[in-house]
Amino acid sequence: MKTTFVAAALAALATLTLAKPISRPHKRQSQRDPNLDISSGLQNILDNTHGSDLYAYPTDLTRGILPKAIHSHNDYWRDVPFYSALSFGCVSIEADVWLYNDTLHVGHEQAALTQSRTFDSLYIQPILSVLQRENPTSAFQTSNTHNGVFDASAGQTLYLFVDLKTDGAETFPYVVRALEPLRSAGYLTSYNGTHVTEGAVTVIGTGNTPLDQIAPVANRDYFFDANLALLSTTQANITSEISPIASTQFTRYIGQINGTEFNATQLQTLESQLQVAKERGIGGRYWDTPAWPVSTRNAVWTELVRAGVALLNADDLAAAAGFTSNW
Ligand SMILES: *[C@@H]1O[C@H](CO)[C@@H](O)[C@H](O)[C@H]1NC(C)=O
Ligand SMILES: *[C@@H]1O[C@H](CO)[C@@H](O)[C@H](O)[C@H]1NC(C)=O
Ligand SMILES: *[C@@H]1O[C@H](CO)[C@@H](O)[C@H](O)[C@H]1NC(C)=O
Ligand SMILES: *[C@@H]1O[C@H](CO)[C@@H](O)[C@H](O)[C@H]1NC(C)=O
Ligand SMILES: *[C@@H]1O[C@H](CO)[C@@H](O)[C@H](O)[C@H]1NC(C)=O
Repeated sequence: MKTTFVAAALAALATLTLAKPISRPHKRQSQRDPNLDISSGLQNILDNTHGSDLYAYPTDLTRGILPKAIHSHNDYWRDVPFYSALSFGCVSIEADVWLYNDTLHVGHEQAALTQSRTFDSLYIQPILSVLQRENPTSAFQTSNTHNGVFDASAGQTLYLFVDLKTDGAETFPYVVRALEPLRSAGYLTSYNGTHVTEGAVTVIGTGNTPLDQIAPVANRDYFFDANLALLSTTQANITSEISPIASTQFTRYIGQINGTEFNATQLQTLESQLQVAKERGIGGRYWDTPAWPVSTRNAVWTELVRAGVALLNADDLAAAAGFTSNW
C-alpha cells in the first residue's frame, strides 16, 4: 500500500520534471557551473551517484519545494490529487466528498465517482505516507517528530478543506471517523476547549458541513470554513478557534472585474472583509475569482495578495506558483 503511494508520488514529481520546457536527459545533470573545468572523472562521479542511498537523506521526498500560500482548488481533478499540489508547494488542498454506502467518495459530481476514488485512498493515506517519510525514526532520531509535509518548512501546516456534497449532518461524522489514521499518529491541528495546537494537517469542513457539529465541540481536530463576507453580520460570533480560514465567493461579494482595476466600492469591500477577519485572527480566502482573461486573473491575484489574503485560490497551479516573488 505505502509503496504504491510513494511510487505514485515519484511518478507525479517525475512527470512534472519532464513537463518543464527544458528537456532533461534521463539522468539528472549535476548542478555544476559549465565554466568550471572539472575533470571528466569527477563529472562521472557527480552524474552517477544521484539516486544512491549514500547521497540521499530520509526526508528528501519534498526537498526543495517551497510552501506557497496557494489553495489547490478542485484538487481532485488533477491526475494525482494531493501530490500534484504538494509538488507545487500549495499549502492548501480541497476534496469534494460524497457519502454512499458508508464510504466517502471523492469527485466533483456524481458522474465522476468511482468505487476506488475514496477520501481515504486519495487523501488520507497519501498524506499519511508523506508525513511518515518526513518523520522517520532511526537510531539517530528516536523521539517522535511531527514535521509537516514540507521538508524545507517542517512547521507549515497543510490545510485540508473537505467539501461535503451529501447531507451535512449525516456525512460529517464519517469525515471525522475518516481522519482517524492522521489523528492517532498525532498529525492533526486540534482544539482542546481553550487553545488551538497547530499540527501538520488542519482539517476545515466546507460545503454542507454543519456548524453545529463543530462550534459546540470542546475537544476536536476539525474546523469550519466560515463565510468571510458574513463575519461582521450573521457570523459575528465565529472565532478563529472555530474558523482559522474563512472563505467567500468573489463574484458574489466583490463582483465582476472589468479589465484590471477594482472600482472604489470593490476595493473597500475587499479591504473591510479582510480587516474584520484579521482583527479576529481569521485568514481570508476568495473562491470563484476570474480565471480569464489572464490579465484580469493576474490583476485580481495581485490585489488579493496586496490586501492580505491567507490563501490564493488557484486552478492553474503552475501559473499561481510562478506568479509572485512574494512566496
Ligand atoms: C450501495 O449498496 C447497494 C446494496 O448493496 C448497491 O445496490 C448499490 O449499488 C451500492 N451503491 C454504491 C454507490 O456503491
Ligand atoms: C489546552 O492546551 C493548552 C496549551 O497546550 C494548555 O495550556 C491547557 O491547559 C489545555 N486545556 C485543557 C482544558 O486541557
Ligand atoms: C452564534 O449565534 C447564533 C445565533 O445568532 C447561534 O445559533 C450559534 O450557535 C452561535 N454560534 C456560536 C459559535 O456561538
Ligand atoms: C463597482 O462595481 C460594482 C459591480 O461589481 C457595481 O455594483 C458598483 O456600482 C460599482 N461602483 C462604482 C463606484 O463604480
Ligand atoms: C463591468 O462591465 C459591465 C458591463 O459593461 C457592467 O455591467 C459592470 O457594472 C462593470 N463592472 C465594474 C466593476 O465596473
